[in-house]
Amino acid sequence: MGFSLEFTSSLGLVAAFTAALQVKPLRIDLNTEIPRLMSLVANSRLPAKALYPNGGSGERGIELDVLQELRTDWLTKFDWDAQQTELNTFKQFTAIIEGLNVHVVHEKSADPDAIPVILLHGWPSSFQEFLPVIKPLTESWRSPSGKNISFNVVVPSLPGFVFSDPALPNWTLDDTVRIMNTLMVDVLGYSTYALHGTDWGSGVGYAQYGTYNTTVRAAHFVFIPFFPPLAQDIAENGISLSDDEKVILQRTIDWNATGNNYFLEQAAKAGDTQAACPPNDVGLALYDSPTGQLAWIGSKFKVWSDPRAGTPPSALDNTAILTSVSLYYLTDSFLSSVWIYGQNTSAFRATYAKAPTDAPLLFSQYEYNFGLWPKEFVAKVGNLVSYKFHNFGGHFAGLDNPPAFIQDIRDIGLYFEA
Ligand SMILES: *[C@@H]1O[C@H](CO)[C@@H](O)[C@H](O)[C@H]1NC(C)=O
Ligand SMILES: *[C@@H]1O[C@H](CO)[C@@H](O)[C@H](O)[C@H]1NC(C)=O
Ligand SMILES: *[C@@H]1O[C@H](CO)[C@@H](O)[C@H](O)[C@H]1NC(C)=O
Ligand SMILES: *[C@@H]1O[C@H](CO)[C@@H](O)[C@H](O)[C@H]1NC(C)=O
Ligand SMILES: *[C@@H]1O[C@H](CO)[C@@H](O)[C@H](O)[C@H]1NC(C)=O
Repeated sequence: MGFSLEFTSSLGLVAAFTAALQVKPLRIDLNTEIPRLMSLVANSRLPAKALYPNGGSGERGIELDVLQELRTDWLTKFDWDAQQTELNTFKQFTAIIEGLNVHVVHEKSADPDAIPVILLHGWPSSFQEFLPVIKPLTESWRSPSGKNISFNVVVPSLPGFVFSDPALPNWTLDDTVRIMNTLMVDVLGYSTYALHGTDWGSGVGYAQYGTYNTTVRAAHFVFIPFFPPLAQDIAENGISLSDDEKVILQRTIDWNATGNNYFLEQAAKAGDTQAACPPNDVGLALYDSPTGQLAWIGSKFKVWSDPRAGTPPSALDNTAILTSVSLYYLTDSFLSSVWIYGQNTSAFRATYAKAPTDAPLLFSQYEYNFGLWPKEFVAKVGNLVSYKFHNFGGHFAGLDNPPAFIQDIRDIGLYFEA
């Protein structure tokens, strides 16, 4: 695979590894697929009026008028060209790691002391979730004590998501964890680094935090792979909640009661008693239906974000949702993305246990996420040094409240020691 030295240095790669890993720059060009996508959307039908009530806050699924508005925006306002141009303002490459083609955004700071940080997304999002924060994080921030803090930002696409290859059938999260560490250490040459994880990315990141405890030297999460405690556990631990925390506790209860059926659906396999359908059913049913994917994925973006989403400082508007769904459809990712549930059904645990590491752990609770993890519970799983509560923003923090998220990551610099 040919590539020039000039190119490898602009991507900041370790030259010795680039040949074996077949590193190639990526410039996104999905234009030839757009007419087909748009004609499928245009020819899709939705009911003329809602036959069944939604129930108020999404517990019966996406509202028809919300879906209609998103679909209309897709057809009349959405400009793929503009989105693609924006995506291409980020330096990206693909590399073959253990036989799997992995897509990576890598933006470096001008500061030689910048901290390497890997940002790990979940489902149903992609590297796109972090676009508003990448460039600001490469810029210097002066801490109150006069320290300059900036980052070399690495945003991979998890296996099965957008430009990364689908995971092999026998793949598990532990395989993802290993190739993410290889990416940071061997491909990019960072002997130590920090990480951030959300959703499935927190499953990957938390395992990476414990497994690679000499290379991962700080971690920040907005979500941890432990089931959030419900009211009774919280009371038994003698924790009293603020009014803001009660909002998110209610969201946690709702998620556990009715909001997690997608999880059971996507995770199910033979022998499970709780769910009727394995991931292939939803994966293949919606495979060639962009409007179907919009309903399934759009519902999560709507229900899991702040009710004020789309108003400042949130960047999670209809365009962001449509870009995300377009990326899934255009890269054939829907089926392989839902398989992440089927491949590690026990990744989210009920029993809290501490990771074997002394590396600092930072946590930020966003009020409109769908899980509340009180400080006392987060402290059970790692070396908790910072716990913050944000009353604006939800599950997709990088889009839902970029300024708060940027500060969350910058706080890593207060604790990181290479
Ligand atoms: C911080 O960065 C500024 C601007 O790049 C520079 O002038 C200053 O000397 C740096 N301070 C420290 C403590 O490194
Ligand atoms: C998974 O499957 C691949 C391809 O068939 C094979 O090379 C690999 O050894 C398998 N891994 C495990 C852990 O079984
Ligand atoms: C979640 O809800 C189920 C009932 O659907 C209940 O049995 C379970 O205890 C709840 N989970 C937690 C952690 O309380
Ligand atoms: C994935 O699942 C396997 C088998 O259930 C488990 O041993 C492993 O710890 C899980 N990995 C992660 C990162 O949760
Ligand atoms: C890393 O993990 C190993 C194995 O669990 C443990 O022995 C070691 O003390 C840990 N190192 C740090 C720096 O936490």
